[in-house]
Parts: sequence; structure tokens; C-alpha cells
Amino acid sequence: MPKGTFYLTTAIDYANGAPHLGHAYEKVLADAIARHRRMRGDDVHFLTGLDEHGQKVEQTARKAGIEPLAHCDGVAVLFRDMLALLGISNDDYIRTTEARHVRVVQDALQRLFDQGLVYRAEYTGFYSVRQEQFLLEKDRAPDGSWPAIFGEVVQLTEANYFFRLAQFQPWLVSHLEANPDFIQPRFRQRQVLEFLREPINDLCISRPKSRLTWGIELPFDRDYVTYVWFDALTNYYSAVADKGRWPCDLHVIGKDILVPPHAVYWPCMLRALGLEPPRRLLVHGWWTMGGSKVSKTQEKPADGAPAPKPVDALQLARDHGADPLRYFLMREMTVGQDSEFSLDLFRIRYRTDLGNDLGNLLNRLLNMTGRYAAGVLPAAAADEAPEREVRDLWSATAAKFLARADGHEFKEALEELWVFIRALNAYVEGRAPWKLGKSADPADKARLDSCLAHVGEGLRLVATCLAPVMPTVSARLLADLGLPAAVAYEGALGWSSAGLGLRLADKDILFPPLDPPNSPAA
Ligand code: ME8
Ligand code: MG
Repeated sequence: MPKGTFYLTTAIDYANGAPHLGHAYEKVLADAIARHRRMRGDDVHFLTGLDEHGQKVEQTARKAGIEPLAHCDGVAVLFRDMLALLGISNDDYIRTTEARHVRVVQDALQRLFDQGLVYRAEYTGFYSVRQEQFLLEKDRAPDGSWPAIFGEVVQLTEANYFFRLAQFQPWLVSHLEANPDFIQPRFRQRQVLEFLREPINDLCISRPKSRLTWGIELPFDRDYVTYVWFDALTNYYSAVADKGRWPCDLHVIGKDILVPPHAVYWPCMLRALGLEPPRRLLVHGWWTMGGSKVSKTQEKPADGAPAPKPVDALQLARDHGADPLRYFLMREMTVGQDSEFSLDLFRIRYRTDLGNDLGNLLNRLLNMTGRYAAGVLPAAAADEAPEREVRDLWSATAAKFLARADGHEFKEALEELWVFIRALNAYVEGRAPWKLGKSADPADKARLDSCLAHVGEGLRLVATCLAPVMPTVSARLLADLGLPAAVAYEGALGWSSAGLGLRLADKDILFPPLDPPNSPAA
């Protein structure tokens, strides 16, 4: 892939609740991509932020007895703390109450209004308070009732402002057809095209202040505020309006906000404003616990049984550092699919992949180098079939790792890396340095040195590839080898003698054993 600039974003989180595993995952996924692109040599701009307007936020603040902005200030601290806890390397953080954002939203609205792409009309319909939207007849359940997800549904007549969304439908369809990779994974793009077979309506982009005040005022009618999705989507542009970063290379979002906001409203809004569409949307699935979506308002079982005790996944980062959780999230979920979270699954990955496979390999190297080579990584004196096999496996692994990571497929990329880590462990077992160390034969001494050199170099390569997913562990591993932190793949992924002759750390337990599952601390 050529070097270039790379601008990526996450969804901006709703300020009506505290951060949870779903938010954490999306930020880690985007962060792994951002770090990977930086390692690829790209000039990366990574944006995330907070979605602060709208009825739900207003209601949550009122319930707490405080002003909406004061409420949002508090929530912003929680989300920014989460980013710090997880080691997220975002370059900017946007809040939709910031002046730089409000100005761009109002400019956009005024331009659309001046061009006749926003018009005023009266509308009567059924309105869902929970979803903050007017409902359509097709939203009704087969028995004519409104499904529970809509909460309270009321009939409303209102004058409002509408964006001429429908007129962009033919353009959107042809754009999707011409760009089959616009939405990753591809089955999502097909779902969007399916959705666009039916004619779409113009989009109501205003809310009368009589009903909602917590929003961005329409520049051409002070009795209205802007519909929260029109406001929120614009963050991706408002944050870089003066930075020359548009179009965005990648929006990372969850599947619940693809259709219609990101796949329909947003490209059409940009088109209407004379701006290019984003290059790509990456749509991830949901983390579930006990089979239901992790969310702010954890759903209670329908039968009235007590809700299962929610697990605070973020506590795992406080207890073990960010990297084991980051590894777990990237290794466990196939991007685009749903994935079940549990402490047991986390513990299994921690003990096996991290402790037994990676941590142990480093321990072996540090122990043996201390015992047999006075702590200094020796040169590879012997070169036999097992060494050649290790190096060949690495060339294949590096190519597959890069291809998978370029495609945002970190689960598969890590799987490839772990095939290599386990092969290194098997190589050590086959070479049995503890036996070679007892031999008086100089050929065995050469084999022993070679074994240490190959494990050392293998770990250097592994640590380099781990930098996007486990940046702290990567840097610590490289420091144990006497090397600086990884900053680029180029020149760093070929088998080399970079670490030979360097003094290694005496000992480093990367992944301390977990408490037994039944102990009080677990
Ligand atoms: O949707 N698993 O905010 P949000 C995985 N403000 N991802 C999850 C998840 C789960 N269980 N739960 C939520 C919003 N997410 C809007 C976005 S963008 C201009 C405005 C994801 O706080 C969700 O899919 O409800 C979304 O991408 C992100 O977390 C924020 O969700
Ligand atoms: Mg949500």
C-alpha cells in the first residue's frame, strides 16, 4: 500500500450514559487501525468525540437535575478517561457543543437552505419519543401496534424543515454500485442497496424549540434546533474543516448506525454540500453478554427474572493494563460479526495466548540467554533445517499479517502471528537448549547460540507487529531485547541481526498469573 495521509474517525458516543464495552471496542479497533497506518508510514489523523445534543441527553440531564451542558461536561470526562485507560492515540476529540462544530453545522444548514435543498413543510405523524423520530406505517408490528423499541408513541402535527434527501437517492445508488468496497464488510453494502430499492423520504432536520431546546439553532429560523443526527454526522467534517483532511478515509461505526444515518443521510448531505463522500465505512458488530447487546440500559430478561450482574469489562484494563483487553477484543471478534463477552473467555485468552504462548517464550529466552550466554544475545552460528523453517514461516507470516491488518482484519492478523509464536515455542522444544548446554560438542554450542538468536529475532519481529494492538507490551518486549519501540514496519519486518550482541533483560513477566477464578479478588 502506498504511503499517504489517512483520516479516520469513530462514531461519537452519545452523552446520555457512561462508557461501556461497546464503546471501548470501537475505539480500540479504530486505534489499532490508526497505529497500523502510522506504522505503514501514513500521516494519520484520528478523530473521536462526544455527541451531546438531542432529547435523550436533555432528558438524562433533567432527571439528574442539572443543565445539559454540565451533564455533558461530566460525561466527557468519563469518556476521555476511558480513552486514556485504553491507550487510545486519537489526535483530536470533538464535542458537538464546541463553537468550531456549531459554526460549521450552521454554515452547512444556511447553504442548503439558500440553495433550496432545505424547505419548510407541515407534517402530521406518529412520533417515537425514545427514538426521536417520526414513524412510518411500515414500522408498525403486524398487529398494528408500535414495537416496544419505540417507547412512547404520540401523534404530532408540526411545521418543520426538510432536507431534500430523496433527490439524491439515484446518485447514492450509483455511487454504491460503482464502489463495491464503500462499506466493509461487503454484505452490509448489499443490505444498504436492498434498503435503497424502496423510495426514501426527505429528511426532517429540525425540531421546534417547544419540544426540544438542547440543540444547534437553525440559522434561518430561531424557533428551531437541528435534528441530532444532522448535527452529529457533521462532526466528521467540522473537526477538519480547516485542516484540509477531507474526504475522510474511514469511518468506524457499529451496525446499528449504518442504515440510514451513515450509509444514506451522510453521503447525501455531503453531496448536497458539494463535498466528496467518505472513502469507506467499516461496520462492526455488537458485543453481547448472555446473548444480549451490551448497552447503557442493559436489557432485562423478558420473563422478569433478575438481570445477570453486568460485568465491567473496563475494569479488566484497570486490573491488567490496557493491552490484554485490547488483545482480547481484537482477537475475539471477527470485524462485522457479533461476539459474546465473558470473563471466562478473557481469562482463557490471557492464560493461553498471552501467558503460555507469548509470555513464556520471552521468559525462556531471557532465562536461557542469562544461563548460557551471560545475558547477551549471541550470533546465529549454526544454520540447519529448523532455523530455515522458522525463517521461512516468518516470511509467510509477515506477508499474511500485513495483508490482514491492511484489511482491518485484526483477528486473522493475530491468528497468523500466533501460528508463528507457537512455532517458535515448538522450535525451542525441538532444539532443547537445556540439553545442548550440557554437550561438550562445539557444534551443539553453535546450535544453542543459533536457537537463542532465532528466538530473539523472532520475538523482535512479533513485537513489531504487535505494536498496533498491544503498544505497551510491544515496547516492553523490545526494551527487554535492548531495542527501541517500533515506529515503522518498513525495514523492520525482514529477518535481521538487529538484536544480536545486545544485552537482554534478566527477567520480565509480561502477563502475571491471574488469581484463581474463585478467589475473592477475581
Ligand atoms: O450511536 N457492541 O452513540 P452510541 C459494539 N451518538 N459496539 C457498540 C455496542 C455494542 N454492544 N453498543 C454501542 C451513537 N456500540 C451516536 C453516533 S456518530 C455521528 C453518532 C457502538 O453511544 C455503536 O454501534 O449509542 C456506535 O458505533 C458507538 O458504539 C456509539 O454508540
Ligand atoms: Mg447506541
